[in-house]
Order: sequence, then C-alpha cells, then structure tokens
Amino acid sequence: MALGKKAVSTLRKEFPALQQTAGGRPIIFFDGPGGTQVHGSVIEAMKRYFVEANSNAHGAFLYSRRTDEVTTEARRALADFLNAPRPEEIVFGPNMTTLTFRLSRSIGQTLSAGDEIVVTRLAHDANVSPWLALQERGAVIRHVDLNPADCTLDLEGLWAAITSRTKLVAVAYACNATGTINDVALVAEAAHDVGAWVFVDAVHYAPHGPIDVQAIDCDFLACSAYKFFGPHLGALYGRYDLLHELPSYKVRPAGDAPPDKFETGTPSFEALAGATAAVDYLASVGNRYGGRFAEGFSHFDGRRLDLKAGLAAIGAHGQEQCRRLVAGLQEIPGLRIYGITDPSRSDHRVPTVSFTLEGLTPREVAGRLGTENIFVWDGNFYALSVTQRLGLEGRGGLIRIGLNHYNTADETEALLGALADIARLGS
Ligand SMILES: Cc1ncc(COP(=O)(O)O)c(C=O)c1O
Repeated sequence: MALGKKAVSTLRKEFPALQQTAGGRPIIFFDGPGGTQVHGSVIEAMKRYFVEANSNAHGAFLYSRRTDEVTTEARRALADFLNAPRPEEIVFGPNMTTLTFRLSRSIGQTLSAGDEIVVTRLAHDANVSPWLALQERGAVIRHVDLNPADCTLDLEGLWAAITSRTKLVAVAYACNATGTINDVALVAEAAHDVGAWVFVDAVHYAPHGPIDVQAIDCDFLACSAYKFFGPHLGALYGRYDLLHELPSYKVRPAGDAPPDKFETGTPSFEALAGATAAVDYLASVGNRYGGRFAEGFSHFDGRRLDLKAGLAAIGAHGQEQCRRLVAGLQEIPGLRIYGITDPSRSDHRVPTVSFTLEGLTPREVAGRLGTENIFVWDGNFYALSVTQRLGLEGRGGLIRIGLNHYNTADETEALLGALADIARLGS
C-alpha cells in the first residue's frame, strides 16, 4: 500500500471541507479535476496573510516587506514543486488559462508567417485556443489526433506533425477528460530535435505525481494551485533565457526582468501565501509517508526530496485507487469508459475516469449522484477536442470521477453502489 488506510484517514482530517455534511450526510468529493479541496494549512496561511501582512509590494514598511517575503517564498515553493533551477523562472497569474494566453501572445511576436505550432486533441482548450489565436499572426496549427480506443495520443501522428517548420509543441502532461498521461519528456526531445519549444500543460497531472521540469527538459510548463489543494492561482515555469528574451506586454514602471515583466498588476498575495502552504503540505506527505519512495530521488534533498517522495506515494496510491474504480465501473451494465482500462497500464493514467451510461445523459447521472452527496462533473470539462473527437459533444459529454489521495476505498464503493442503482433504475 502506497498510502495506507490510516495515512488517508489522518490526512483527510486536515481538510476542513472533508468534514462537512449536507442534509446530515457526509459529502463525497470526486470533483477534484475541477478543483481539489483545500488543506487546512492553506486556509490558515491565507488568513494569516490578511491579518499579519496585508499590503502592496515593495514599500518601506513592515507589512509591505512581509508581502514581498510572501511572494519570494511562493516562488521558491513553486520552484521546488517543479524542480525549476531558479525561483525567477516561476511566473504567477490568476490561472493557467490567462498565463497561457499571455505567453502565446508574447511568443506570437517572435513568429513569422508559416511557422507551425503543434497542438493535440487530448487537451484542455486552455492548451489549444491560446495557440489557435496565433493564426492571426500567420501561424499554421497542426492538430495531432488521439486513439479513440484507449484515448492515448496518436504518437505516429505527433512525430509526423513535428517538422523543421515547427516552433512550438503544446502537450498535456495528463488529460483532464480521460486521465491519460503523455510521455512529455519524449515529446520535448522530439520538439528540441527540430529546434522547437515545448509547452507542457501540467494542470491535471500536478496533484497526481512529481513534476521535474529539468528531467522533462521542457521550455514552459503551467499548473494551477487550486488543483493541488491550494488556492485559485496559476503558475508558469519558463526557462530563464526564454523569459528573458521574449517580449512581454507590461506597464512601463513594472520590472523588465523575469518574472516581473510577465506579471501584470497586483497579484493575489493571499493566494501566493496559500500556494506555499499547499506545497509545504505535499512535502509533509512525503516526509510522513514517502519513506520508501524517497529512495528513487536520492539526488534531491530538503523540500524538493519530500515533494518528490510525497507525490510519488500519492501517485502510486492513485494507481491502486484507479484499478479498483475501473474494475467496479466495468461491472455496471451499459457503462462505457473512455480511456485506459487495462490494469497493467495503470501507470499510464491518473485516477480520473470518465464514462457514459446508456439511457441517461451525463447531466442526469451527475444530478442523481449529487442527490446522494456524491459530487462529480459532467460535460466536456473544456477538453472540447476530446469530446468532439469521441462524438460526445452535443450529447452531454462525459461523467467524470476524479479521485484524489484524500478519497477512501469506502467512498469508491459508495459511488459504485449508487451507479449500479442508477443503471438498474434507468431513465
Ligand atoms: C488540463 C487542464 N488544463 C488547463 C486548465 C485550465 O486551468 P485554469 O483554470 O487554471 O485556467 C484545466 C482546468 O480544469 C485543466 O484541467
């Protein structure tokens, strides 16, 4: 067992939302891919910021100095989280979508007509539309297909799409609709072979496994703290030399060096404080429960080591959770899973499992589960290319079960029982 029952039970108690009830019954949160519940230390850190540091940046007085410290700490924390060489390579923004549009607009300045950008159909639209927008600058967009049988990336198609004209390859670390993990290091290698940059959308992967931008050798990578137990905040890693070179859209008094040149306006300092706490929480999972996983990361130390061990433990736990969920779902008549179901390939997916149920729309299924206090998402989850490609757009999309490390085996069984009842009763 990667995270035993006792560990999960201890960790759950640290999340105030997980202690809530509605109508006198517990709530089962399987909506993590839309946003995870927040660790208690995150709430405390944000509260502390408002009481003990609330100010604007770069002033000559105590609270402003504390605010600067909060920003510095958050950059260090995210650099540790992603194993970025330098904290200055972390750009904060309201969310991943805004940061990606910001980056694409800057990159657009460097493109010539006919330059190519590769996007995939296994993507959230935040890693498609910002690149499509560059068509107005003459960029040509190449779309790489997915294999509908198991919702993996069409790698042959990807290699064919990357050519000497390619300037950037935009790929997801994990798909938020199907749970598929892509081999982003391999994609980065192929992009670099032709002199292109690679942008990795790690939003969905971040709560499920360790991220190492140096090992991936990516040029840019984005994530969002609200998907890994923190507040609503986006973070973009960019190689320092690229952030330095790229033009940015900024106000004149703002700093010209990275990351300042990409951070427009006053940030949510309280969210920065919360993001540091979220990273520290994940490090504490490693410190408390990651012992046997730490061995694989002996070249790290301190918080970076704890983060790697914690997320490796969470990742292994997720694979166990996912195998049981998939096996249980497969027993329900009329239920069709879209994604990898082979248990021997569970390391190629995160525990996000989407499906349809014959005779009912995804909204009807999610609504019925909702009345049982089981929170799940339905629709396209903004992974528009996925639902379009699978022929599910216009038919309500999918029902998505997103497991996080704080979910229990009992919760999975409750879900499977409820779904079996829904399938039996039908429409
Ligand atoms: C894979 C993926 N990419 C991007 C996003 C967009 O992130 P944000 O809400 O931070 O803009 C999401 C949000 O659900 C996502 O799941």
